[in-house]
Amino acid sequence: MAFGGLFSTDMAIDLGTANTLVYVKGKGVILNEPSVVAYHVKDGQKKVLAVGEDAKLMLGRTPGSIQAIRPMREGVIADFDVAEAMIKEFINKVHRRGFLSKPRIIVCVPHGATPVEKRAIRDSVLKAGASRAGLIAEPIAAAIGAGMPITDPTGNMVVDIGGGTTEVAVLSLGDIVYARSVRVGGDRMDDAIVSYLRRQHNLLIGESTAERIKTTIGTARMPDDGRGQSMQIRGRDLLNGVPKETEINQAQVAEALAEPVQQICEAVMTALEATPPDLAADIVDRGVMLTGGGALLGELDLALREQTGLAISVADESLNCVAIGTGKALEYEKQLRHVIEFDN
Ligand SMILES: Nc1ncnc2c1ncn2[C@@H]1O[C@H](COP(=O)(O)OP(=O)(O)OP(=O)(O)O)[C@@H](O)[C@H]1O
Ligand SMILES: [Mg+2]
Repeated sequence: MAFGGLFSTDMAIDLGTANTLVYVKGKGVILNEPSVVAYHVKDGQKKVLAVGEDAKLMLGRTPGSIQAIRPMREGVIADFDVAEAMIKEFINKVHRRGFLSKPRIIVCVPHGATPVEKRAIRDSVLKAGASRAGLIAEPIAAAIGAGMPITDPTGNMVVDIGGGTTEVAVLSLGDIVYARSVRVGGDRMDDAIVSYLRRQHNLLIGESTAERIKTTIGTARMPDDGRGQSMQIRGRDLLNGVPKETEINQAQVAEALAEPVQQICEAVMTALEATPPDLAADIVDRGVMLTGGGALLGELDLALREQTGLAISVADESLNCVAIGTGKALEYEKQLRHVIEFDN
């Protein structure tokens, strides 16, 4: 029996800055939780208190004895011990007890990850209980997950807008022709909303509130009526230090998000300019595919189309694309062998 054998469940993991997803071979995506770990700290000893959804609820609300940590930054591991604890916990959640052998696990990594960063991801997965660790480049996984014909001899552009980074890639014949990662994603959008409200309204809000504003009324374009929808938010008035409730509208959010949106547009234009002419012509014909949670920002597709002149589509299940694509690489391993790097 090759590899894991009869009794193991091979898995694919999308270890994201914001969310971690686990795909189990033959089953699909069966775990999707925020990449957050909460620790209880006592006498210098750290004990895992909660992981995922439960831990995210604690972010920004922890007393001194509890730490809620996001171990991934910009798509790579920023805190090794925490990342390992998180991966272990998630694997335990999906890996049925009683299996005789350890699973093989494929994880996607940003195209720009350094050998050291790749090594760190492999080591964490092996320590967390995998028998073998494979890596796949994130843009390839995103494109497979979005259903793009990546093995055809045509240019395909995929733009994955995650929590930490936006990766723009051009693929042809199953490989990456061009890829670039910019440090702009959902987190940067949240920060932009926080600083906008601080600057313009002397209102201090937390990251979770900023994210809620973004996902509820966030938009990449000025609304036609100059206001758009609005919502009530709460924060602290910086002038007198007391809690304050106020209304924010879509025009304000669009203004706050203008810079990160512009940076994403520029990354797409830069990629198109750097793409060999025939492949660039294919992209002009076929358009650009957006994946990742950031692709769900209101009217981002329209804003990108207006600024780049390209046809833009948002992938179905854009938040799950990378995990689905990584999982498919596992399901169709024979055909897609060349996109997975195993090291042992
Ligand atoms: N409707 C929405 N509008 C705008 N942003 C959204 C929406 N839904 C989710 N997001 C944002 O998408 C981001 C998470 O996306 P995703 O899960 O693709 O990131 P990730 O894979 O964890 O990060 P990375 O790929 O950078 O490591 C978060 O910043 C989240 O706030
Ligand atoms: Mg991602």
